[in-house]
Parts: sequence; C-alpha cells; structure tokens
Amino acid sequence: MAEDFRTLDGVDVKDKRALVRVDFNVPMENGAVTDDTRLEAALPTIRRLRDGGAKVILISHFDRPKGRRVPSMSLKPVVAPLGKLLGAPVAFANDCVGEVAEQAVAAMHDGDVLLLENLRFHAGEEADDPAFAEQLAALGDLYVDDAFSAAHRAHASTDAIARLLPAYAGEQMRRELEALDSALGNPKKPVLGIVGGSKVSTKLDLLHNLIVKLDRLAIGGGMANTFLAAQGWAVGASYCEPALGDTARGIMAFAESRHCELLLPVDIVVAERPEPGAAARVRDLGEIDPHERILDAGPQTVERLCAAMDASATLVWNGPLGVFEVPPFDRGTVAAARHAAELCKAGKLVAVAGGGDTVSALNAAHVAGDFTFVSTAGGAFLEWMEGKSLPGVEALRAGRA
Ligand code: 3PG
Ligand code: MG
Repeated sequence: MAEDFRTLDGVDVKDKRALVRVDFNVPMENGAVTDDTRLEAALPTIRRLRDGGAKVILISHFDRPKGRRVPSMSLKPVVAPLGKLLGAPVAFANDCVGEVAEQAVAAMHDGDVLLLENLRFHAGEEADDPAFAEQLAALGDLYVDDAFSAAHRAHASTDAIARLLPAYAGEQMRRELEALDSALGNPKKPVLGIVGGSKVSTKLDLLHNLIVKLDRLAIGGGMANTFLAAQGWAVGASYCEPALGDTARGIMAFAESRHCELLLPVDIVVAERPEPGAAARVRDLGEIDPHERILDAGPQTVERLCAAMDASATLVWNGPLGVFEVPPFDRGTVAAARHAAELCKAGKLVAVAGGGDTVSALNAAHVAGDFTFVSTAGGAFLEWMEGKSLPGVEALRAGRA
C-alpha cells in the first residue's frame, strides 16, 4: 500500500521549506484545546522533518469560517499545546498567505516550526482555487500532506497545491492508509464490521460497500431499530426511520445475496428516557411498551457479537451500539470494545476503528490504545468506508502527474 504513495523516505529535506498540511481542527472550548489527539498525530512528521534539517511550516483549517476572518476561529490557541507536546517553540503568523506569511517564513532557521493562521479565512481554500494554491506554494519547496482526516475535501491545501510542489504523504497519513488497507483493502479474513449510530439514511452507501467486502456485518445503535421495525418488531418510542422499511429490507436481501451475514440485535435494553442512571431493562425483541425506547444492545446481542469477533481475523468499527454517552446505556458498547481490545492484545484480531463518535466511545471504554488503529478522521473515515476515493489521498498517488 505505502509503495503506491510518495513518502518522505529517501527525500533530502535539509534546508528545505516543508509546507505541511495538518488537521488541527481540534475540539476547543473557550479558546482552549480540549482533545489533543490530532496535535499528537502530527508530531512524527514534524519531528522527522526537523531532524532532517527542514523548516517546518504547518497549514491547517479550523472550523468553518466560510472565507471570512472570524477571530474565534483562529488557530492561535493551538500554538502553546503544540509547543508543549513537541518540546520546542512554535511560531505563529496571523495569515497563511501574503506578506505576513512570507515574512514569517523568511525569518525561519532550519529546524524551526511555524504555524500559519486558519486556511479557511480565505475563500480560495474551500474553492480549491489555483491562484490561492499558488500563494501557498510560494511559501514552500515541498508539500507534505499529513491530514488524512481532511482528505475527503478537495480544497486548495489538499488538492490544488499537490500539483504545484513535490508532494509527499506524511507519517500520520501513511499510518492511516496502512491501517485502512489492513482493514478493508487487503484484510486478513474473515472480516467483521460493526456499524452503529442513529441514521440508516446517512449510511446507505456505507452499508452497501461493506456488505460487498465483509463476511459479517453487525448493525447497532439507533439504526438497528429501523431494521427491527422493518422485520415487524415493535420498537415503542425508539428512534427509528419507519419510512426506510423497504430500504432496510433491501439491504437485508442484498446482504444475503452477497453472503454477508447481517448481525441484528437479538435482545434490547429499554428505558423511558436516556437519562443517567435510568432504570434499564433487558428485554426480548418486540417486548417493549409504546412509551419505552431501545437505548442499548442487550447482553445476548453483545455475547453474539463477541463470538463473531472470536471467529474473525479483522474488525472494522464505526459507531456505538447504544447511547454510550449516558450510562448505563454505554454497557453494550463498552463490553464489545473491551472484548475487541483483549483480542488485539492477544494478537488474535486486527481492529481498526474511526469516524465521529466512535473514538469518544472507545476512549470512554479506555480501550482506544489497545486497538490496532484508531483513525483521527470523522467524515474522511466514513467516505473511505463507503468506498469513495478521497481527493487528498489521490493527490499523493505515486503515478499521478
Ligand atoms: C474533520 O474534523 O472531520 C475534518 O477536519 C474536516 O472538517 P470539515 O468537515 O469542516 O471539512
Ligand atoms: Mg467534520
């Protein structure tokens, strides 16, 4: 896999200005970074380039300012935590192009690190504008893309710029691509998928692509209710998309025709409301009062899922099995995550997880570190699971002009 992409291996970066696209779109509250996972993820590339004697110029978007300079969406608050993690000073420039950026770059010495202000303060970024990409490219001698989590966007800093400078995949990008390849590209079989979350409607492409590729697919979370309802089970006041009955039945038929075993819940945990400490009741399918909601997978469902993990060589996981943010409805997700983590530790399973809530759920279960790989990506991970090609990844292909 990695040989399909241009990497920094064997590239002499001494005295070079390396323009590095990172994804510092990190969770922030009141101007303080609350989760530094994406900062950590950028360290190996930054260190490698510094060690090689390059000047490291970091570019990133943050939030969605839509081409305007929105002060609350500045990347400045990232400087201090990044410097602390790196153990070296990080300079900051108030603009990512033009005189301010050019002067800041001109003042750099080999091994220095500079972070430029939010790319999305300029409309040219999201427009994939070649003129804006030219302005960015003028700041560097080579371009490194380390932002897998932004690779589903065809923006100037992920797409157009790769045509203007020698372009390489950074260390995090390489790790993501290798992990994704080991999970869906060339996985050890049998392969099990877990897809949770609430809406079937947003995951149709994903379900179809996974059914083609996987041996077993477990469906959990709110979207499982839509499948249960489509099979005629009562779901009470649960979250459900009743209009998607035909769609759900179509997916089940498709899975059967492709010999992918669908694992739907065989028991449920219900309560009136998803409130912390609410009285949670384990029930058989269909045994639910009209005012009750399904809020988690039942113990037999989880047991069957764990057995499916035992019988698999590879697991790809997106989305929680229940309302994991509200205990006790985290039990199913936590138990399944712990089982996967144990199998990984014992070398019996390759488990790759990613996408939105998944990482929070694994962190809540304290098992993210034991998974083979946890992606830093939300939307990009989903699009990759849907089988779509990602512009930011395509831009780095070895054969591309
Ligand atoms: C993400 O957080 O998923 C990426 O940084 C992409 O952000 P976006 O959805 O605003 O493009
Ligand atoms: Mg997003």
